[in-house]
Amino acid sequence: MALLIKNGDIVTVGAREKADIYAEDETITRIGKNLEAPAGTEIVDASGKLIFPGFIDPHVHIYLPFMATFAKDTHETGSIAALIGGTTTYIEMCCPNRNDDALEGYKLWKSKAEGKSACDYAFHMSVTKFERETPGQLREIVADGTTSFKIFLSYKNFFGVTDEEMYQTLTLARQLGVIVTAHCENAELVAQLQAKLLSEGKTGPEWHEPSRPESVEAEGTGRFATFLETTKATGYVVHLSCEPALRAALAAKERGVNLFIESVIPHFLLDKSCAERPGVEGMKHVMSPPLRAEHNLGVLWRALNRGLIDTVGTDHCPFDTEQKLLGKDAFTAIPNGIPGIEDRVNLLYTHGVKRGRLDLERFVDAASTRPAKLFGLYPRKGTIAIGSDADLVIYDPDYRGVISAKTHHVNNDYSGFEGMTIEGRPSVVTVRGKIQVKDGKFIGERGRGRMLKREAAYF
Ligand code: URP
Ligand code: ZN
Ligand code: ZN
Repeated sequence: MALLIKNGDIVTVGAREKADIYAEDETITRIGKNLEAPAGTEIVDASGKLIFPGFIDPHVHIYLPFMATFAKDTHETGSIAALIGGTTTYIEMCCPNRNDDALEGYKLWKSKAEGKSACDYAFHMSVTKFERETPGQLREIVADGTTSFKIFLSYKNFFGVTDEEMYQTLTLARQLGVIVTAHCENAELVAQLQAKLLSEGKTGPEWHEPSRPESVEAEGTGRFATFLETTKATGYVVHLSCEPALRAALAAKERGVNLFIESVIPHFLLDKSCAERPGVEGMKHVMSPPLRAEHNLGVLWRALNRGLIDTVGTDHCPFDTEQKLLGKDAFTAIPNGIPGIEDRVNLLYTHGVKRGRLDLERFVDAASTRPAKLFGLYPRKGTIAIGSDADLVIYDPDYRGVISAKTHHVNNDYSGFEGMTIEGRPSVVTVRGKIQVKDGKFIGERGRGRMLKREAAYF
């Protein structure tokens, strides 16, 4: 069915206009004043609302076997939560570990999503070892439309790659025109610090941050940048959390390294005191890199507003209270991660745009347009233009609410953002021209989402 959205205030990067949007056959076909539509068209009045391009979360975990357990969401629950929060596309980290076969892993991750997600999705393919068959397997995965890789410099002996493997991955990525995303923490230093702290009887969640201090992340970021410089590959630091790592990344960019930066919503809003809360309350806020000392939050907001930090993701990774308690005797066994897929857009709008830390246009850029451009989805996604997919967020800036696990849709029994206010939320969300969400409720078609196949060689 065709869709006509009338009287909205359309916000894209570089333009703002009051106009109607008409979509047919999944794409936007007309934008203009006082558009007419044929009988049978579904009409939405967007007076008083902002209209944004569907938001893109460039970093989520849905299916994730990790730290002796599995993240809680399925593509069904995760995608519905995403859509309610205004995210119409997510890019999931496909994360087989070092003992798994990469191609088998890729097929497994794809099978978990197929026919289940209510919104569109893509994958970053993790390279967690580099063996003789790896180049062939990665070429096959790229040919299948997954044109970004992920490497972990941390998580020794599980996801983590050696420097040699990083070099091999980046060299291949350069040949294939594939961007490489990287978790940048020095695995050896983390392992040594963890062992030292535990040997001193320091077992609680408050020791997680001291086991992976800012210097450890800055070292990983700088080393990744040096490897990019040498191989001429293009890179993207995921979940950058602190000033020293930012400085390392910006110094590399200044010398011409092709490097982009993502930070994730917990690092803008929560500090390390959350993980210092006693017992399981602290464990709920354990993620890596860890929540940091408070002054870093302002540093990240300022860099984001200036466009030095390119994108805002979530690193959505839900482990429930029972799973977090796996680490009750040792912080090293607390499953790392905080959920956020449902709340990213509303939190960024409220605590960024409404609080004067983030320009409206930069908000759209960081949460939609730049992820689309960096990961080969633009202009199909990430903007409102004729020919683009009709993924639209009709946003109510007058909505007032409070985040709570009691009302969220993520499959988890806690929220890392419990009690935080939101000033705005999506009132209508469409995926390729079909209304999937209305006023906080999923009313659409389950399994509507498609895997987005992307072309390589963007840089
Ligand atoms: O704590 C985190 N970030 N958990 C998910 C795995 C990762 O490092 O992205
Ligand atoms: Zn990570
Ligand atoms: Zn992650």
